[in-house]
Amino acid sequence: MYPINEEAKKESLLIDLDELDVSNRSRFRNNTVQYYFDRLRKEEPVHFCKNSDYGQFWSITKFKDIQEIEANHELFSSAQGYSIYDLPELNKSFVAMDPPEHKSQRSPILPLFSSGGLQNLEPTIRAIISNVCDGIPLNKPFDWVEKVSAQITNQILAIIIDVPNQDLGRLLKWSEVLTTFPEKESKLDLNNLQLMADFSEYFSVLWHRKCNSEPAHDLISMYAHSPLAKKMWQENFLQTLSLLIAATTDTTKNSMTGGVIFLFRSPKERDILYGNREFIKSAVSEIIRYQTPIAHMRRTATADTCFKGKNIRMGDKIILWYASANRDDEEIENPYDFCISRKLHSHHLSFGFGIHRCIGKNLAELELKILLEEIISRGWLVEPVGDPVRKDSCFINGINSLPVLVNKL
Ligand code: HEM
Repeated sequence: MYPINEEAKKESLLIDLDELDVSNRSRFRNNTVQYYFDRLRKEEPVHFCKNSDYGQFWSITKFKDIQEIEANHELFSSAQGYSIYDLPELNKSFVAMDPPEHKSQRSPILPLFSSGGLQNLEPTIRAIISNVCDGIPLNKPFDWVEKVSAQITNQILAIIIDVPNQDLGRLLKWSEVLTTFPEKESKLDLNNLQLMADFSEYFSVLWHRKCNSEPAHDLISMYAHSPLAKKMWQENFLQTLSLLIAATTDTTKNSMTGGVIFLFRSPKERDILYGNREFIKSAVSEIIRYQTPIAHMRRTATADTCFKGKNIRMGDKIILWYASANRDDEEIENPYDFCISRKLHSHHLSFGFGIHRCIGKNLAELELKILLEEIISRGWLVEPVGDPVRKDSCFINGINSLPVLVNKL
């Protein structure tokens, strides 16, 4: 079911491993990176790349090795950055912190994403998704990303950070800029700079309003009424908010789009799912595994060490390729098969592992579950009618647009 690209397959087998750079964005854009990961897992699962757009880095490509590194946050720190890029400003959120700061910044908002917190939100999330589905035109091509995935994730984000409906358009623009991950060549143009200035002003006003109101069940209020409030306002409120906006939208949005492609390409799996609602939960996990919306996270070695026979030096960048681990056949049976009824369906690394494991996991799964329920109960076949346009990024495994036709089965 993985699209075959003979040329890339051949190149992946011939390329000198010393020359291989898996962070090359064209391999993500063309959806050929898995051939190179297959070779690394087999021949050099801990691999050093000496020259890339992002400098030198180690690639960790096997499932168990990634878990081992994530479990050792003293030796493999997040504090020098969470992605292959070196972006000091974006590294001021708790995703780029080690204990104890990491826990103190992560804890205040955890109740929002607990099962109790999500139970309160579920009716609102269902209403949003159902309303977006009501607006879908039948038998008329449209962009699934723009009309469905982006709409749903943006409206749910607005609920979580308590932005009113009249500002949804602005929120969508801000989140588009924040999720256009700053690749090496890209620069913020003047329009974007203006947009981000509006962003800072808007959320600074909202922060102060939340500080002066009764505590409420939304992200900004939870921080504003936490013991951290003063420190956070002075040091990293806007950076934390930016992380949360990007994390809430870009990941789930890409699962919602990937899911449409995988289900269409696997009619047998789709029939099983449409006939047996009990597989919705495992289908959600399988979609998230198969898409792996965050292709990697990064750690930095805090001391010289030997890992799996390789000498890693203090300060080296270590890239944990979840996109590869989720195709590791020592951990996942027939990993290239899209199979919605896997028994160990949540055994994947799309949400990471250890103390930084995604806090939005339950929310993302709930959104995707409700979307599948809506599609199935309407008896819809969502058919891609053109190629997906993939994101030019080795961090977000994303899809910018997907033309589709929706019809009754
Ligand atoms: C399918 C959707 C999603 C995927 C695949 C995903 C994936 C990830 C991954 C891989 C990490 C890093 C884990 C690590 O370093 O071990 C992470 C962290 C995080 N995610 Fe998600 N995420 C998703 C949805 C969400 C949502 C909806 C939110 C909403 C709040 C969210 C918020 C976060 C935050 C705040 C972190 C940082 C956690 C920390 O450093 O302690 N994510 N996510």
